[in-house]
Amino acid sequence: MADRIKVALVGIGNCFSGLIQGIEYYRQNPSQEITGIIHDKLAGYGIHDIDFVCGFDVGENKVGKPLNDAIYESPNMVNWVPNDIMPKTDAKVYESPLLDGVGIWVENKINPLKSTKTNEELTAEVKQVLKDTGAEIIVSYLPVGSDKVTAFWAQICLETNTAFVNCIPSFIASDETWAKKFQEKNIPCIGDDIKGQVGATIVHRTLAKLCSDRGTKIEKTYQINVGGNTDFLNMKEQDRLVSKRISKTESVQSQLKERLDDDQIYVGPSDFIPFLGNTKLMFMRIEGRQWANIPYNMEVRLEVDDKANSAGIVIDAIRLARIALDRGIGGPIKPASAYLMKHPIEQTSDVQAKTACEKFVAGD
Ligand SMILES: NC(=O)c1ccc[n+]([C@@H]2O[C@H](COP(=O)([O-])OP(=O)(O)OC[C@H]3O[C@@H](n4cnc5c(N)ncnc54)[C@H](O)[C@@H]3O)[C@@H](O)[C@H]2O)c1
Repeated sequence: MADRIKVALVGIGNCFSGLIQGIEYYRQNPSQEITGIIHDKLAGYGIHDIDFVCGFDVGENKVGKPLNDAIYESPNMVNWVPNDIMPKTDAKVYESPLLDGVGIWVENKINPLKSTKTNEELTAEVKQVLKDTGAEIIVSYLPVGSDKVTAFWAQICLETNTAFVNCIPSFIASDETWAKKFQEKNIPCIGDDIKGQVGATIVHRTLAKLCSDRGTKIEKTYQINVGGNTDFLNMKEQDRLVSKRISKTESVQSQLKERLDDDQIYVGPSDFIPFLGNTKLMFMRIEGRQWANIPYNMEVRLEVDDKANSAGIVIDAIRLARIALDRGIGGPIKPASAYLMKHPIEQTSDVQAKTACEKFVAGD
């Protein structure tokens, strides 16, 4: 029987709430088929082999609380398993440095703790928590645009020999300099920017690849996303969105035989509609030409719970990080990153990435 996988969480928002509640949902409903996950078992590890041993956040209503309560605190809005039947845990939420974590649009939603600690004190405390809890993998679900906070946590991984799963588009696993540091220390790193299970990016890149592979010429394409949670509210701040746009656009461009000019492709989060909550709507259009230069176009509307969409994927990422740790493999884990993340260090097609990932799990 495989050992438990000990995971520390950074950014206890809606994504983690959905991840933890989903695992508990299946625990309480054992006869329920596990949907929303690509692999039931990976090298022997199932969804119930993960222990969330500690969390880190800045919200004054989350820091100091046990994880089983913090995941329900505002502005989180996932409520699939009611708080009163969520089992209690000793795992607590600790303070993370604020740095650039909270953008201007979410300032009235997240009330950051007024820290009394110096950077050195906070860094020492974080390291001690990781040591005491035995965390072996840090998973980051920070807000988009948290480049400095992400760098802080990547550095913590390097200094504490902890694997890193980076679910956001602040580039670490796909950045040559950071990737080299993880390689040199032989610490696994999977990133960057998680793909949804059936999310906007995977649908768009799959259809774009289909049109390209079938020999048509794509002339223009767009993808617009709207949602009503703090993730979308935060993304109203254009300055925080630079890497998100790169990540999402490159994910589609990488699937085309011929790159589109920059002004012929638009991919990005586009607005915040409060009443949508965690529902994300994606509108996608592809325009192209077929035989005899005859035009065609297609439009897709996807409606999906964004949090259910990422949880199954991050569970695979956590287990793949653990497999890498078990086998002493460090640096960016390329098959896992290409398969599960929008902006890996090396883009491949999703079919190639899946095959490569399965070979990696099989030990090839
Ligand atoms: N399908 C998906 O949901 C999906 C897909 C790809 C990427 N992502 C990304 O995952 C991230 C998390 O999404 P979410 O919906 O959980 O966001 P969220 O806004 O619900 O949660 C973010 C959390 O980070 C905390 N935080 C802010 N600054 C911090 C700091 N300095 N240190 C530690 N914690 C800090 C906030 O208090 C909040 O609890 C976002 O960047 C999002 O774009 C999500």
